[in-house]
Amino acid sequence: MKQFRVGVVGATGMVGQRFVSLLENHPWFHLEVVAASARSAGKTYQEAVGSRWAMTNPMPENVKNMVVLDASKVEEVAGKVDFIFCAVDMKKEEIRALEEAYAKAECPVVSNNSAHRFTPDVPMVIPEINSDHIQVIHDQRKRLGTKRGFVAVKSNCSLQSYVPALHPLMADFGVTKCLVCTYQAISGAGKTFETFPEIVDNVIPYIGGEEEKSEQEPLKIWGHIQDGKIVPVTAPSITAQCLRVPCSDGHMAAVFVSFEKKPSMEQIKEKWAAFSGAPQALNLPSAPKQFLHYFEEENRPQTKLDRMLENGMAVSIGRLRPDTQYDYKFVCLSHNTLRGAAGGAVLLAELLAAEGYMD
Ligand SMILES: NC(=O)c1ccc[n+]([C@@H]2O[C@H](COP(=O)([O-])OP(=O)(O)OC[C@H]3O[C@@H](n4cnc5c(N)ncnc54)[C@H](OP(=O)(O)O)[C@@H]3O)[C@@H](O)[C@H]2O)c1
Repeated sequence: MKQFRVGVVGATGMVGQRFVSLLENHPWFHLEVVAASARSAGKTYQEAVGSRWAMTNPMPENVKNMVVLDASKVEEVAGKVDFIFCAVDMKKEEIRALEEAYAKAECPVVSNNSAHRFTPDVPMVIPEINSDHIQVIHDQRKRLGTKRGFVAVKSNCSLQSYVPALHPLMADFGVTKCLVCTYQAISGAGKTFETFPEIVDNVIPYIGGEEEKSEQEPLKIWGHIQDGKIVPVTAPSITAQCLRVPCSDGHMAAVFVSFEKKPSMEQIKEKWAAFSGAPQALNLPSAPKQFLHYFEEENRPQTKLDRMLENGMAVSIGRLRPDTQYDYKFVCLSHNTLRGAAGGAVLLAELLAAEGYMD
């Protein structure tokens, strides 16, 4: 496989640190540039991150002495790399402009940010589910007037467990409606227990903008390309409540679901066990071997025990049973900063590279 020089924009943040860690020994991608705000620019990565290093693994040696570049110096950063990962905490319109500026500088952007998720010609991809959406990049390049540059995004971390769990059931059984309550870890807010002491022994019943994302983004993921745009589906209807809970990593979801043609529990488990997608077919380096794991034990999945399944890239499911108001209910879990953020973006970049979009 071809080798690629990679930059991380927002490298000093929580998701950026995950990128830096995941890229340490990547077989195709080599970290060449770390960039962040003007506050960090000019410092070594170690100085800029300071006490904010939140990973359990130590900071990789190869990055400690890299000098952080100013992310707003687009030409300078773009000139040193083949593509960037982007995870920044800025206003939405600023992120939109920054990402388009990189794309227009012929530097592809694989983004964790929400700013472009509803731009109609920007693919929002969970690689096992809608890998075909990357074809819309041809139309996006026409709009931007670029040859190489484009923006591709991953979806929100809250939905990375239940959308994969529902997806294999859609074609044969027709999901009509779904109610979901999420129990989301504090790293999703870029926090640790040290920086977010008010979450200890507590649950906070509000995460700004999260419920809308949890209800709307799946509809684009299940959409199709028409006339150079991704047209979202109009069903199933999804209603969501999102709670912040005192866990470091791992977003749990409690799901209630009804079908057009109600399957048996065995049929549902068979669909989950048999499901795989483009990352498995292409044998991408970060792909889990088995994407969906069903636990028969009634007290699984558990956040602490199961979030790291398949290096944090798999989805754990359990407690499938009939419901009194919906057809069934179950529980599912995914790692929010691995599958739900940096890991999912690395997998998307691997898909784009394997399909020739990074050439
Ligand atoms: N945490 C998650 O699980 C998760 C999941 C999915 C998506 N996301 C999204 O990923 C993005 C980053 O989240 P995070 O949790 O990593 O945030 P974070 O820890 O607050 O880090 C923010 C990063 O943005 C940089 N930044 C801030 N202002 C900037 C500017 N004006 N120009 C360039 N860089 C700037 C910061 O650099 P300095 O250090 O120099 O300030 C830092 O590197 C957000 O859009 C978030 O919604 C997060």
